[in-house]
Amino acid sequence: MQLTVTINGEAVSRDVEPRTLLAYFLRENCGLTGTHVGCDTSSCGCCVVVMDGEKAVKSCTMFAAQADGHEILTVEGLAQGGTLHPIQQAFWDTHGLQCGYCTPGMMLSSYVLLKHNPAPSEAEIREGLALVWNNRTLRSLALVAAAWQILHHMQIAVLILFATRELGLSAGALGMAYMAGGLGCVIAASAAERLARRFGVGPLIVYGLLLTAFGWQAFGLIRGSPAFATLALGVGMLLFDFGAVLWGINYLSLRQAITPDRLLGRMTATMRFLAVAAAPLGSLVGGVLATGIGLRQTLWVVGSLGMVLALVAMRWSPVRRHRQLPAVVLD
Ligand code: FES
Repeated sequence: MQLTVTINGEAVSRDVEPRTLLAYFLRENCGLTGTHVGCDTSSCGCCVVVMDGEKAVKSCTMFAAQADGHEILTVEGLAQGGTLHPIQQAFWDTHGLQCGYCTPGMMLSSYVLLKHNPAPSEAEIREGLALVWNNRTLRSLALVAAAWQILHHMQIAVLILFATRELGLSAGALGMAYMAGGLGCVIAASAAERLARRFGVGPLIVYGLLLTAFGWQAFGLIRGSPAFATLALGVGMLLFDFGAVLWGINYLSLRQAITPDRLLGRMTATMRFLAVAAAPLGSLVGGVLATGIGLRQTLWVVGSLGMVLALVAMRWSPVRRHRQLPAVVLD
Protein backbone atom coordinates (compact mmCIF):
# COMPACT_ATOMS: atom_id res chain seq x y z
CA MET A 1 0.00 0.00 0.00
CA GLN A 2 1.05 3.57 -0.65
CA LEU A 3 1.33 5.92 2.29
CA THR A 4 2.47 9.46 2.87
CA VAL A 5 3.77 10.58 6.24
CA THR A 6 5.33 13.88 7.18
CA ILE A 7 8.48 12.91 9.01
CA ASN A 8 10.52 15.59 10.71
CA GLY A 9 8.83 18.19 8.55
CA GLU A 10 9.28 16.45 5.19
CA ALA A 11 6.56 14.56 3.32
CA VAL A 12 7.68 10.98 2.67
CA SER A 13 5.77 8.62 0.33
CA ARG A 14 6.52 4.91 0.31
CA ASP A 15 4.96 1.68 -0.83
CA VAL A 16 4.85 -0.67 2.18
CA GLU A 17 3.21 -3.91 3.22
CA PRO A 18 0.12 -3.27 5.36
CA ARG A 19 1.67 -5.26 8.23
CA THR A 20 4.75 -3.01 8.43
CA LEU A 21 5.19 -1.57 11.89
CA LEU A 22 5.96 2.11 12.20
CA ALA A 23 9.32 1.44 13.92
CA TYR A 24 10.52 -0.70 11.02
CA PHE A 25 9.09 1.72 8.46
CA LEU A 26 11.14 4.52 10.03
CA ARG A 27 14.29 2.45 10.38
CA GLU A 28 14.28 0.35 7.23
CA ASN A 29 12.24 2.32 4.71
CA CYS A 30 13.28 5.80 5.76
CA GLY A 31 16.77 5.12 7.17
CA LEU A 32 15.93 6.87 10.47
CA THR A 33 17.73 4.47 12.77
CA GLY A 34 17.52 6.74 15.81
CA THR A 35 14.21 5.02 16.56
CA HIS A 36 15.27 1.92 18.47
CA VAL A 37 13.46 -1.32 19.15
CA GLY A 38 14.07 -2.81 22.59
CA CYS A 39 11.32 -5.08 23.84
CA ASP A 40 9.10 -5.07 20.72
CA THR A 41 6.15 -5.50 23.07
CA SER A 42 5.16 -1.98 24.08
CA SER A 43 6.87 -2.14 27.47
CA CYS A 44 10.20 -0.33 27.34
CA GLY A 45 9.56 2.87 25.38
CA CYS A 46 12.78 2.78 23.29
CA CYS A 47 10.72 3.17 20.16
CA VAL A 48 8.67 6.23 21.18
CA VAL A 49 8.12 8.85 18.48
CA VAL A 50 5.85 11.89 18.50
CA MET A 51 2.69 11.92 16.42
CA ASP A 52 1.08 15.18 15.32
CA GLY A 53 3.32 17.16 17.62
CA GLU A 54 1.71 16.11 20.84
CA LYS A 55 1.19 12.39 21.21
CA ALA A 56 3.93 9.97 22.28
CA VAL A 57 3.37 6.68 20.45
CA LYS A 58 5.23 3.40 20.68
CA SER A 59 6.19 2.76 17.10
CA CYS A 60 6.82 -0.95 17.76
CA THR A 61 3.11 -1.53 18.25
CA MET A 62 1.66 0.79 15.64
CA PHE A 63 1.30 0.05 11.96
CA ALA A 64 2.96 2.43 9.54
CA ALA A 65 -0.43 2.61 7.83
CA GLN A 66 -1.86 4.24 10.96
CA ALA A 67 0.57 7.12 10.49
CA ASP A 68 -0.64 7.77 6.92
CA GLY A 69 -1.48 11.46 6.61
CA HIS A 70 0.00 12.27 10.02
CA GLU A 71 3.14 14.03 11.21
CA ILE A 72 5.85 12.07 12.94
CA LEU A 73 8.79 13.49 14.85
CA THR A 74 11.76 11.21 15.44
CA VAL A 75 14.89 11.93 17.41
CA GLU A 76 16.61 13.00 14.17
CA GLY A 77 14.15 15.89 13.93
CA LEU A 78 14.85 17.34 17.38
CA ALA A 79 18.03 19.29 16.64
CA GLN A 80 17.57 22.31 14.39
CA GLY A 81 20.29 23.82 12.21
CA GLY A 82 23.04 21.92 13.98
CA THR A 83 21.91 23.10 17.42
CA LEU A 84 20.75 20.54 19.93
CA HIS A 85 17.17 20.80 21.12
CA PRO A 86 17.05 22.02 24.76
CA ILE A 87 16.00 18.49 25.81
CA GLN A 88 19.02 16.97 24.06
CA GLN A 89 21.22 19.64 25.61
CA ALA A 90 19.78 18.91 29.07
CA PHE A 91 20.44 15.16 28.63
CA TRP A 92 23.97 16.00 27.51
CA ASP A 93 24.60 18.42 30.38
CA THR A 94 23.35 16.08 33.06
CA HIS A 95 24.73 12.84 31.56
CA GLY A 96 21.15 11.62 31.37
CA LEU A 97 21.89 8.25 29.83
CA GLN A 98 23.51 4.93 30.55
CA CYS A 99 24.12 2.87 27.41
CA GLY A 100 22.09 5.38 25.38
CA TYR A 101 19.93 2.78 23.65
CA CYS A 102 16.65 4.07 25.06
CA THR A 103 17.73 7.74 25.09
CA PRO A 104 15.81 8.69 21.90
CA GLY A 105 12.60 7.32 23.41
CA MET A 106 13.25 9.09 26.70
CA MET A 107 13.92 12.40 24.96
CA LEU A 108 10.79 12.19 22.84
CA SER A 109 8.69 11.17 25.86
CA SER A 110 10.12 14.21 27.69
CA TYR A 111 9.24 16.34 24.65
CA VAL A 112 5.58 15.33 24.89
CA LEU A 113 5.51 15.62 28.69
CA LEU A 114 6.79 19.20 28.49
CA LYS A 115 4.39 20.01 25.69
CA HIS A 116 1.45 19.21 27.94
CA ASN A 117 3.03 20.20 31.23
CA PRO A 118 5.81 22.78 30.77
CA ALA A 119 6.70 22.88 34.48
CA PRO A 120 6.37 19.41 36.00
CA SER A 121 7.08 19.46 39.69
CA GLU A 122 8.09 17.19 42.53
CA ALA A 123 4.67 17.84 44.04
CA GLU A 124 3.13 15.92 41.12
CA ILE A 125 5.40 12.94 41.78
CA ARG A 126 4.38 13.07 45.44
CA GLU A 127 0.75 13.18 44.40
CA GLY A 128 1.24 9.91 42.50
CA LEU A 129 3.00 8.27 45.44
CA ALA A 130 0.31 9.53 47.84
CA LEU A 131 -2.46 8.24 45.59
CA VAL A 132 -1.03 4.72 45.68
CA TRP A 133 -0.28 4.87 49.38
CA ASN A 134 -3.62 6.31 50.48
CA ASN A 135 -5.85 4.02 48.44
CA ARG A 136 -6.10 0.66 50.23
CA THR A 137 -6.56 -1.36 47.05
CA LEU A 138 -3.75 0.35 45.13
CA ARG A 139 -1.44 0.09 48.14
CA SER A 140 -2.22 -3.57 48.48
CA LEU A 141 -1.71 -4.19 44.75
CA ALA A 142 1.61 -2.32 44.88
CA LEU A 143 2.89 -4.32 47.86
CA VAL A 144 1.77 -7.64 46.39
CA ALA A 145 3.30 -6.77 43.01
CA ALA A 146 6.61 -5.72 44.56
CA ALA A 147 6.78 -8.90 46.70
CA TRP A 148 5.86 -11.04 43.68
CA GLN A 149 8.58 -9.37 41.59
CA ILE A 150 11.17 -10.16 44.27
CA LEU A 151 10.14 -13.83 44.24
CA HIS A 152 9.93 -13.94 40.46
CA HIS A 153 13.45 -12.58 40.07
CA MET A 154 14.77 -14.92 42.75
CA GLN A 155 13.41 -17.72 40.57
CA ILE A 156 14.78 -16.23 37.34
CA ALA A 157 18.24 -15.99 38.91
CA VAL A 158 18.39 -19.74 39.56
CA LEU A 159 16.06 -21.59 37.19
CA ILE A 160 18.33 -21.81 34.13
CA LEU A 161 21.26 -22.90 36.29
CA PHE A 162 19.08 -25.48 38.00
CA ALA A 163 17.76 -26.81 34.68
CA THR A 164 21.18 -27.09 33.05
CA ARG A 165 23.35 -28.13 36.00
CA GLU A 166 21.04 -30.29 38.08
CA LEU A 167 18.57 -31.57 35.48
CA GLY A 168 21.09 -31.73 32.63
CA LEU A 169 18.78 -30.04 30.12
CA SER A 170 20.12 -28.82 26.79
CA ALA A 171 19.37 -25.41 25.30
CA GLY A 172 16.83 -27.03 22.97
CA ALA A 173 15.04 -28.77 25.83
CA LEU A 174 14.88 -25.50 27.74
CA GLY A 175 13.44 -23.81 24.68
CA MET A 176 10.71 -26.43 24.47
CA ALA A 177 9.83 -25.98 28.13
CA TYR A 178 9.65 -22.22 27.69
CA MET A 179 7.47 -22.75 24.63
CA ALA A 180 4.98 -24.55 26.87
CA GLY A 181 5.05 -21.44 29.06
CA GLY A 182 4.11 -19.39 26.02
CA LEU A 183 1.17 -21.70 25.46
CA GLY A 184 0.08 -21.06 29.05
CA CYS A 185 0.16 -17.31 28.31
CA VAL A 186 -2.02 -17.71 25.23
CA ILE A 187 -4.57 -19.90 27.03
CA ALA A 188 -4.75 -17.48 29.97
CA ALA A 189 -5.09 -14.44 27.70
CA SER A 190 -7.91 -16.01 25.73
CA ALA A 191 -9.76 -17.24 28.82
CA ALA A 192 -9.13 -14.22 31.07
CA GLU A 193 -12.33 -12.34 30.33
CA ARG A 194 -14.57 -15.37 30.75
CA LEU A 195 -12.82 -16.41 33.95
CA ALA A 196 -13.09 -12.87 35.35
CA ARG A 197 -16.84 -12.91 34.72
CA ARG A 198 -17.15 -16.29 36.40
CA PHE A 199 -14.88 -15.84 39.44
CA GLY A 200 -14.47 -12.06 39.73
CA VAL A 201 -11.45 -9.85 39.03
CA GLY A 202 -10.12 -9.72 42.61
CA PRO A 203 -10.34 -13.48 43.28
CA LEU A 204 -8.62 -14.16 39.94
CA ILE A 205 -5.70 -11.96 40.96
CA VAL A 206 -5.23 -14.15 44.04
CA TYR A 207 -5.78 -17.44 42.17
CA GLY A 208 -3.27 -16.33 39.55
CA LEU A 209 -0.72 -15.61 42.28
CA LEU A 210 -1.36 -19.02 43.78
CA LEU A 211 -0.85 -20.76 40.44
CA THR A 212 2.48 -19.00 39.94
CA ALA A 213 3.55 -20.24 43.39
CA PHE A 214 2.55 -23.81 42.45
CA GLY A 215 4.62 -23.42 39.29
CA TRP A 216 7.67 -22.25 41.24
CA GLN A 217 7.24 -25.09 43.72
CA ALA A 218 6.88 -27.59 40.86
CA PHE A 219 10.18 -26.44 39.32
CA GLY A 220 12.01 -27.37 42.52
CA LEU A 221 10.43 -30.83 42.66
CA ILE A 222 11.53 -31.94 39.19
CA ARG A 223 13.85 -34.95 39.05
CA GLY A 224 14.49 -37.78 36.60
CA SER A 225 15.82 -38.25 33.08
CA PRO A 226 16.32 -35.20 30.84
CA ALA A 227 13.29 -36.22 28.74
CA PHE A 228 11.05 -36.47 31.79
CA ALA A 229 12.53 -33.30 33.29
CA THR A 230 11.84 -31.39 30.05
CA LEU A 231 8.25 -32.53 30.11
CA ALA A 232 7.83 -31.71 33.81
CA LEU A 233 9.47 -28.31 33.39
CA GLY A 234 7.17 -27.62 30.45
CA VAL A 235 4.12 -28.44 32.57
CA GLY A 236 5.46 -26.27 35.39
CA MET A 237 6.07 -23.44 32.94
CA LEU A 238 2.60 -23.78 31.49
CA LEU A 239 1.10 -23.59 34.97
CA PHE A 240 3.31 -20.68 36.01
CA ASP A 241 2.70 -18.62 32.89
CA PHE A 242 -1.02 -19.33 32.93
CA GLY A 243 -1.17 -17.99 36.49
CA ALA A 244 1.16 -15.07 35.79
CA VAL A 245 -0.90 -13.83 32.84
CA LEU A 246 -4.14 -14.29 34.76
CA TRP A 247 -2.83 -12.29 37.69
CA GLY A 248 -1.16 -9.73 35.43
CA ILE A 249 -4.21 -8.99 33.29
CA ASN A 250 -6.54 -8.63 36.25
CA TYR A 251 -4.03 -6.68 38.35
CA LEU A 252 -3.48 -4.19 35.52
CA SER A 253 -7.18 -3.91 34.73
CA LEU A 254 -8.11 -3.27 38.35
CA ARG A 255 -5.46 -0.65 38.99
CA GLN A 256 -6.37 1.17 35.77
CA ALA A 257 -10.09 1.02 36.51
CA ILE A 258 -9.93 2.47 40.02
CA THR A 259 -7.55 5.32 39.18
CA PRO A 260 -8.93 8.64 37.96
CA ASP A 261 -7.88 9.39 34.36
CA ARG A 262 -5.92 12.48 35.39
CA LEU A 263 -3.67 10.41 37.66
CA LEU A 264 -3.19 7.32 35.51
CA GLY A 265 0.32 8.28 34.40
CA ARG A 266 1.48 9.00 37.94
CA MET A 267 -0.07 5.82 39.33
CA THR A 268 1.57 3.76 36.56
CA ALA A 269 4.93 5.43 37.16
CA THR A 270 4.72 4.68 40.88
CA MET A 271 3.74 1.05 40.32
CA ARG A 272 6.44 0.57 37.67
CA PHE A 273 9.03 2.13 39.95
CA LEU A 274 8.16 -0.27 42.76
CA ALA A 275 8.16 -3.31 40.49
CA VAL A 276 11.39 -2.40 38.70
CA ALA A 277 13.14 -1.50 41.97
CA ALA A 278 12.14 -4.86 43.46
CA ALA A 279 13.56 -6.91 40.57
CA PRO A 280 17.32 -6.54 41.21
CA LEU A 281 16.76 -7.13 44.91
CA GLY A 282 15.08 -10.44 44.05
CA SER A 283 17.93 -11.46 41.74
CA LEU A 284 20.46 -10.64 44.45
CA VAL A 285 18.60 -12.54 47.16
CA GLY A 286 18.07 -15.51 44.80
CA GLY A 287 21.76 -15.65 43.93
CA VAL A 288 22.91 -15.37 47.54
CA LEU A 289 20.40 -17.95 48.73
CA ALA A 290 21.29 -20.43 45.99
CA THR A 291 24.97 -20.07 46.86
CA GLY A 292 24.14 -20.81 50.48
CA ILE A 293 21.49 -23.53 50.33
CA GLY A 294 21.48 -24.74 46.71
CA LEU A 295 19.48 -24.18 43.52
CA ARG A 296 16.69 -26.67 44.18
CA GLN A 297 16.23 -25.49 47.74
CA THR A 298 16.01 -21.87 46.58
CA LEU A 299 13.17 -22.81 44.24
CA TRP A 300 11.38 -24.46 47.17
CA VAL A 301 11.80 -21.31 49.23
CA VAL A 302 10.44 -19.21 46.35
CA GLY A 303 7.45 -21.53 45.92
CA SER A 304 6.67 -21.56 49.65
CA LEU A 305 6.95 -17.78 49.97
CA GLY A 306 4.76 -17.43 46.87
CA MET A 307 2.05 -19.48 48.56
CA VAL A 308 2.34 -17.40 51.72
CA LEU A 309 2.01 -14.26 49.58
CA ALA A 310 -1.12 -15.59 47.86
CA LEU A 311 -2.65 -16.62 51.19
CA VAL A 312 -1.88 -13.24 52.76
CA ALA A 313 -3.47 -11.53 49.72
CA MET A 314 -6.47 -13.84 49.98
CA ARG A 315 -6.96 -13.27 53.70
CA TRP A 316 -6.13 -9.61 54.28
CA SER A 317 -6.00 -7.70 51.02
CA PRO A 318 -9.04 -5.68 49.91
CA VAL A 319 -8.20 -6.76 46.36
CA ARG A 320 -10.21 -9.98 46.48
CA ARG A 321 -13.41 -8.04 47.24
CA HIS A 322 -13.35 -6.35 43.82
CA ARG A 323 -15.42 -8.82 41.90
CA GLN A 324 -16.15 -6.44 39.03
CA LEU A 325 -14.31 -3.51 37.54
CA PRO A 326 -15.98 -0.19 38.33
CA ALA A 327 -17.56 1.29 35.21
CA VAL A 328 -16.40 4.87 35.85
CA VAL A 329 -14.15 6.44 38.43
CA LEU A 330 -14.96 10.05 39.16
CA ASP A 331 -12.01 12.39 39.29
S1 FES B 1 10.41 -1.48 21.64
FE1 FES B 1 9.90 -1.49 23.73
S2 FES B 1 8.06 -0.32 23.75
FE2 FES B 1 8.53 -0.44 21.66
